[in-house]
Amino acid sequence: MDFNTFFRDQLDSLRNEGRYRIFAELERQAGSFPRAGHYVDGERSGTVTIWCSNDYLGMGQHPAVMEAMHEAIDRCGAGAGGTRNISGTTHYHVLLEQELADLHGKEAALLFTSGYVSNWAALGTLASKIPNCVVLSDAGNHASMIEGIRHSRAERHIFAHNDPEDLDRKLSALDPRLPKLVAFESVYSMDGDISPIAEICDVAEAHGAMTYLDEVHAVGLYGPRGGGIAEREGLMDRLTVIEGTLGKAFGVVGGYIAASTDLCDFVRSFASGFIFTTSLPPAVTAGALASIRHLKASTAERLRHQDRVAVVRRRLEAAGIPVLENPSHIVPVMVRDPVLCKEISDRLLDHYGIYVQPINYPTVARRTERLRITPSPLHTDADIDHLVNALTEIWAEIGLKRAA
Ligand SMILES: Cc1ncc(COP(=O)(O)O)c(C=O)c1O
Repeated sequence: MDFNTFFRDQLDSLRNEGRYRIFAELERQAGSFPRAGHYVDGERSGTVTIWCSNDYLGMGQHPAVMEAMHEAIDRCGAGAGGTRNISGTTHYHVLLEQELADLHGKEAALLFTSGYVSNWAALGTLASKIPNCVVLSDAGNHASMIEGIRHSRAERHIFAHNDPEDLDRKLSALDPRLPKLVAFESVYSMDGDISPIAEICDVAEAHGAMTYLDEVHAVGLYGPRGGGIAEREGLMDRLTVIEGTLGKAFGVVGGYIAASTDLCDFVRSFASGFIFTTSLPPAVTAGALASIRHLKASTAERLRHQDRVAVVRRRLEAAGIPVLENPSHIVPVMVRDPVLCKEISDRLLDHYGIYVQPINYPTVARRTERLRITPSPLHTDADIDHLVNALTEIWAEIGLKRAA
């Protein structure tokens, strides 16, 4: 086989469908988020305003986080030096796990190198090691959950997105003696819709099923201490496992689960994706610790974030830009065509210095291609004016339909 020809053909078909991914080369500028340098062909071409970052609150550049990271790097050096089992558990890792357990009102927490790995490893381990476990997975679940469940080879059933009644039907059809695990998210990252956590817990409890909630797009952002939607709704104790990331609202990198001591110890002891990999660098864990502690005590970032989201949404709607309605901080501008989506993104970048990555299949379903806008507390009124004016002009130039 001519491997390179095969690779090129596959890539060409992505290009022809308008969904070949091109990464914007950025240089984030500490202290001036959401501004970043933009590089084209290795040369700095200018400064852009980022409107699609998952550093939702700008915590990646918060002075307390940066100071903690600088201090840890000066004290401990760069890497952790090993897996958690073999010399890679530092005092920071232990403190961070305690902080995360406290954040979610759980007995324990367990760190992973990313949110993706935490879902893959935790779901994969639970579903494969609990004898005859059956997994009920929301149809909208993230790739990391799907891969973990698939990897477990456990029997699995997909229930209709955010639909407790369908979940109930699917659970009712199973042998009541089988152990079951219901896996779902709180904020779904592409549509920005929020799951009915209480109703899903009601159904799961009625069938004696464990619950596994991914709060990746909610931790830091919702709840009085940033514990997520489950904290906001007073539901944390009803969930068997809460999973989150340190890489989005907390502004650093890493993932975790929070659950009972026994469950965390079980995953710690059996999950290959936890055991056989170098642990997070101490500076990363120190930065995450500072970020979580800050957001537990401060609501200023969350309030300002909600305000910016509301303003962006209101302004776009007033301008007739088609925005998907939802109750979260994610503002999806629906284009519904992969080529146009890329075209709008290119024009925003080239003519207005605005960076919003186009979101195409398979991240979202075909015909739902979009620009996923994520306002932050640090976007100013002038930034919002500029974004709305730019989109209004582009909508007119391309002759796109306006929303009513
Ligand atoms: C719902 C959900 N879960 C998990 C992840 C993975 O988290 P991380 O980026 O920390 O790997 C993502 C990433 O975007 C996500 O959207």
